[in-house]
Amino acid sequence: MHAFYGGQDARRYRQLRDALRKNPFAIGGDSVKISPMSNKKFAAYPRLNPFGIGKKISAADLIDQAFLAYNGGRVREAAKLLTEKMLPNDGFIGVSLTGALTPAGLGKSCLIPLMKAGFVDWIVSTGANLYHDLHYGLDMELYAGSPFLNDVELHRDGVIRIYDVLFDYHVLLDTDAFVREVISGPEFQRPMGTDEFHYLLGRYVAERGKKLRLSDSSVLATAYECGIPVFTSSPGDSSIGMNVAAMSLRDSKLMFDVNRDVNQTAAIVYEAKSTGHTSSVFILGGGSPKNFMLQTEPQIQEVMGIQEKGHDYFLQCTDARPDTGGLSGATPAEAVSWGKVDPDTLPDCVVAYVDSTIALPLLTAYCLSRVKPRRPKRLFERRDELLEKVKAKYLKIGTVTKIKTSRKIAKRSSGIGVNKTLDRDR
Ligand SMILES: NC(=O)c1ccc[n+]([C@@H]2O[C@H](COP(=O)([O-])OP(=O)(O)OC[C@H]3O[C@@H](n4cnc5c(N)ncnc54)[C@H](O)[C@@H]3O)[C@@H](O)[C@H]2O)c1
Repeated sequence: MHAFYGGQDARRYRQLRDALRKNPFAIGGDSVKISPMSNKKFAAYPRLNPFGIGKKISAADLIDQAFLAYNGGRVREAAKLLTEKMLPNDGFIGVSLTGALTPAGLGKSCLIPLMKAGFVDWIVSTGANLYHDLHYGLDMELYAGSPFLNDVELHRDGVIRIYDVLFDYHVLLDTDAFVREVISGPEFQRPMGTDEFHYLLGRYVAERGKKLRLSDSSVLATAYECGIPVFTSSPGDSSIGMNVAAMSLRDSKLMFDVNRDVNQTAAIVYEAKSTGHTSSVFILGGGSPKNFMLQTEPQIQEVMGIQEKGHDYFLQCTDARPDTGGLSGATPAEAVSWGKVDPDTLPDCVVAYVDSTIALPLLTAYCLSRVKPRRPKRLFERRDELLEKVKAKYLKIGTVTKIKTSRKIAKRSSGIGVNKTLDRDR
């Protein structure tokens, strides 16, 4: 007997569960029992007909059965998009991270499980998320506080506050010292892409974690272990960048090669599209990482002159509004006009106006319970090969003068579904 619905009929529960799995449009209970009131006017729309929530409902079932409208409805659509469109067929998924996610523990609770399940292929993050991830990777202590504390007293007592997260000023000083010591090593004494920098840094965090008997505590260490490239779009804009800058005033030769980052991220997307895979972006927040991830398509089309139609799937969880004209709140429809998103798949794209600290744990639970783990693509280990591939194509067809192109002749290079056209065939 299923206990999910408390006293309700288990047979009805099983019917609903099976129907929901078969029919992505089914929401609430309507897939089981069509209302006699249904008529042609509403033929395209499932009836809202939820069950009462029982004691032992899982997070995934809760989303399917109770997240029916408004931004709850968008979270359910986001869950479906992730599990039914973005993850299947080994689609490439880039995740962009903004907002203070790692200080709130979302690195350990959500991002690391998603990465280890092979659900994250590449990342663009603010430096802050990677810097604060180091605290967890080095077993430093952060505390659940309150947003209503006296900041003058906190400052006097050496306590740092990120809204309701609290930690000691020494956490910053110790993390800074760790970064400076690590980047003093000989392997850091040259210009490099931020993906390579984070890979090398992640190796040190992983080694330190082992000594501290930690497991799965750092996004950077997990990215190193899983070969997931992690970029940052503004390398100077964080405490990591601040420490790198200070060390350049000594004798450090470490520099960030932002050109490599721009081309390397485009190379990842080109690899997806030219091998018949989908390219999806899962945007948490907005900010500069959102654009850095999306601009890979204009880099391929507008700048390199390679025919392409845009990312296949766009999913954003944000509080940023679209009517200010800022990129953070720009909708997938607006992104279509730039060539960032494929117009054909625009109807599938989802924006959920919801705090990432609510959406990400729910979506993580949903993905892990509905989709089997995927083999990690380990794209970091293929970085030179991927860059060479897009470079060869660009040098063959790109121009210094104005690109002669028309969007009317732009074709899909990914070929979602059956008609896959591989790059070598074109
Ligand atoms: N010590 C540090 O290194 C440090 C600390 C803080 C910030 N910074 C830097 O400041 C810059 C901006 O930081 P940021 O990303 O925190 O702020 P941000 O305010 O620029 O946020 C970016 C976008 O994400 C949205 N957003 C933020 N939190 C969200 C949430 N919980 N749910 C949904 N949407 C959310 C915002 O509305 C905005 O559109 C970064 O470059 C960062 O590296 C550095």
